[in-house]
This record gives sequence, C-alpha cells and structure tokens, in this order.
Amino acid sequence: MLEGRNDTWESPIIRTEQISGRQRYQLLTSLVVPRPIGWISSFSKNGIANLAPFSYFAALADTPMLVGVSIGRRDGEPKDTLRNIRDTGAFCVNVVTEPQLVAMNESSGDYPPDVDEFEVAGLPMERASLVAAPYVGDCPAVLECRLFREVELGSAANRLILGEALAVRLRPELRRVPGTCHVDVESLKPVGRLFGDSYTLLRDIRSIPRPRIG
Ligand SMILES: Cc1cc2nc3c(=O)[nH]c(=O)nc-3n(C[C@H](O)[C@H](O)[C@H](O)COP(=O)(O)O)c2cc1C
Repeated sequence: MLEGRNDTWESPIIRTEQISGRQRYQLLTSLVVPRPIGWISSFSKNGIANLAPFSYFAALADTPMLVGVSIGRRDGEPKDTLRNIRDTGAFCVNVVTEPQLVAMNESSGDYPPDVDEFEVAGLPMERASLVAAPYVGDCPAVLECRLFREVELGSAANRLILGEALAVRLRPELRRVPGTCHVDVESLKPVGRLFGDSYTLLRDIRSIPRPRIG
C-alpha cells in the first residue's frame, strides 16, 4: 500500500496500522504543520554542552508553564539530549528565529556525545540562571526548564520529556504588544518546520476575532 511513483492517493482512507513506520512518519510530519522547533540545550554530566533541534515539540500548559519534547533513539540508544536531561534534570528551549536557521540545522548533525554543538555551529554559549543548562547567547527568547516528568509513549522509541519553564529570557530587541506580555511575533521572526529539510518563515499574518456567544 502507498508504494509506487504516483502522486495521488489510491484510497480516501489510510489505516495507519497497514502502512510502514516510515510512511506514518511522512504522513504525520507533513500534516501536523508547521511545527515549532524546540532548540534544546543541555549539559552532559561531564559538563559538555549539547544543542539539538526537536520539532516533536509543543506548548502544553501555562500554570505550571509546561513544554513537551518527544525524543527518539539513535542506534537503539537515547540521544544525547535525553541522556543529559535525565542526568541533570535541566534544559533550555531556545526559540529558533530567522537569523539562526542555518546554525540550528548545523546543530542537528549526529555528533558524538563529546562534541559541543555550540562550537560546531559557532554559537555563543551562556549558562542559565535557574537551571543547570546552557543556552544560545544571542537567541532572542529562551525558556529555562527543569525536568517535570518523563513519559513512555507505549511501544514508541520516543520518550516525551515534559519541562517546566522556571524562567523566560528575552533580549531587548524583542518588542511586546503594548499592555500585555505577548511578544510581538514580527520582532521575534520565528521559524516553523514543515517536513524534511523545509521550513516556513512568518510572512502573512491574519487576525480574526473569536466568536462571542451570549
Ligand atoms: C528541524 C529538526 C527537527 C528535529 N526534530 C526531532 C524530534 O522531534 N525528535 C528527535 O528525536 N529528533 C529530531 N531531530 C533530529 C535531532 O535533532 C538529531 O537526531 C540530533 O542529532 C540529536 O542530537 P543529540 O544526540 O545531541 O540529542 C530533528 C532535526 C531537525 C533538523
């Protein structure tokens, strides 16, 4: 099923249990779009800084302020990010913005655990104030998070890491929507992930009031 070169669908319904894991991945990542990118920085227990992007990433709650990131495996072993978060109980989420797209991509390589991706990507590394994790020094917005919970996802190779943001770091160039704590997205210039090597930049914003019932 779903094999071949056709660019049309053979059936209007695809049963996910009848297709391969690769096909499920391709469907999911091309339908849940655009996805925010959690660019996660952490320290190993030996103090080596680590940085990698994750687009199985979401905002989950505000009180407590929770984010979730789903981390897969590499050759059957936890990725460095997962191992570090387990060891230190801490990480930072660096919001990926337009000027950092290339550096974010460079940091995604399968580097061994003793490689510092801040150095690979030529990024300034700073230390978080409230948690034992590094962050990207010139990133406009950073969440300092402590490990809230690790969740198994059934038979998935992925683990869901929930982090509680204890602090939000904002650089002065970020504007705020007057009278609120909304960060002006046009000053943030966030990057969203499509699938594969494709990303989307903020270009066309529509505002539409919510319906008021009663
Ligand atoms: C934009 C982007 C998003 C990614 N999202 C994920 C993800 O959600 N989960 C995952 O396990 N790997 C994801 N990856 C792959 C990891 O970034 C890659 O495996 C990285 O080497 C992990 O680094 P680490 O071993 O230092 O943790 C993504 C890669 C890119 C470029």
